Amino acid sequence: MVKAVVAGASGGIGQPLSLLLKLSPYVDELALYDVVGSPGVAADLSHISTKAVVKGYLPADEGLKSALTGADIVVIPAGIPRKPGMTRDDLFNINAGIVRDLITGIAQFAPKAFVLIISNPVNSTVPIAAEVLKKHGVFDPAKLFGVTTLDVVRTETFVASVLGKPDPSVFKVPVIGGHSGDTIVPLLSLGTPSFTIPDEATRDALVKRIQFGGDEVVQAKEGKGSATLSMAHAGFRFAESILKAVSGETGIVENTFVYLPGIPGGEEVKKITGLDFFSVPVTLGASGAVSIDNILPKVSEYEKTLLSVAYTGLGANITKGVDFIVSPTK
Ligand code: NAD
Ligand code: LMR
Repeated sequence: MVKAVVAGASGGIGQPLSLLLKLSPYVDELALYDVVGSPGVAADLSHISTKAVVKGYLPADEGLKSALTGADIVVIPAGIPRKPGMTRDDLFNINAGIVRDLITGIAQFAPKAFVLIISNPVNSTVPIAAEVLKKHGVFDPAKLFGVTTLDVVRTETFVASVLGKPDPSVFKVPVIGGHSGDTIVPLLSLGTPSFTIPDEATRDALVKRIQFGGDEVVQAKEGKGSATLSMAHAGFRFAESILKAVSGETGIVENTFVYLPGIPGGEEVKKITGLDFFSVPVTLGASGAVSIDNILPKVSEYEKTLLSVAYTGLGANITKGVDFIVSPTK
């Protein structure tokens, strides 16, 4: 029996993500938590004739505790999205506290659950989550993930578009680093099946489009938020990969932002990057992240220059998240 929780379930991502989870054969119970509207979303989804039993929870009457108790997987898209002109880091002041409080609930009521963080800035909210879980003595690095799957999904789509290929899903391209602007590093040279981008200008434009794909959506939505539907798809893809691995499927690899020192193979990546958190290809198993594939020695010279820029930005984002919990007065 698998219980999944969506925290932030009434939002632009939360609603379609909850719909996809309600349709999944891997979910038996679906708890929808939000500060507003979750009973309505739950009532609506509960009429769909799939097996998952859906219930909505609000903060009143210990709603967070009830939603989280018995959870196997918690997906967190709670928090404010960007408007045009904002960076993801501009969301820190509001979203850091939201993530801290939800993770505190997880530490108390669902300490063994897989935790998938979508709330931005992911480069900082995942370190916040790790520090809160450490503080409560329940941090399992194999179970904490920053969801960077949308960068992978965009890369598949934009690569197919540049190459004029009809089916983006055939392309597998590692996207590593973090989840904001130039901390997002697509490794086109390691894509499979292997492909050649016609010239340097096209390659540079493709990489920029992947790194700033989020801005494209923010601008197109004209102040009404950021990516929601593509993010629900990406978040569900990642959540379902976890659930498949839990059910015994092997050979599942996802790129995700994790705490390197806590996962086999991570120390090697840390040695090169100098960072504790990084998005890397991670093999998933029944207990979560089983191993990290250190692909850094295989990257091209061009990708090395992208990575060196990413390391600097990421380092600052990670420190900001850690300090929010460890040295709150800084
Ligand atoms: P939204 O405003 O539509 O929805 C957010 C929801 O969170 C709302 O329903 C709100 O009521 C709820 N919420 C606020 N505080 C809460 C709390 N303490 N507990 C539970 N729920 C709470 O926003 P959205 O478009 O769904 O985006 C949500 C977050 O996801 C944003 O931070 C956005 O930047 C981020 N995001 C991340 C990615 C990614 O690739 N990781 C992609 C897209 C968006
Ligand atoms: C994205 O990549 O679409 C999200 O991180 C949302 C955003 O702010 O761009």
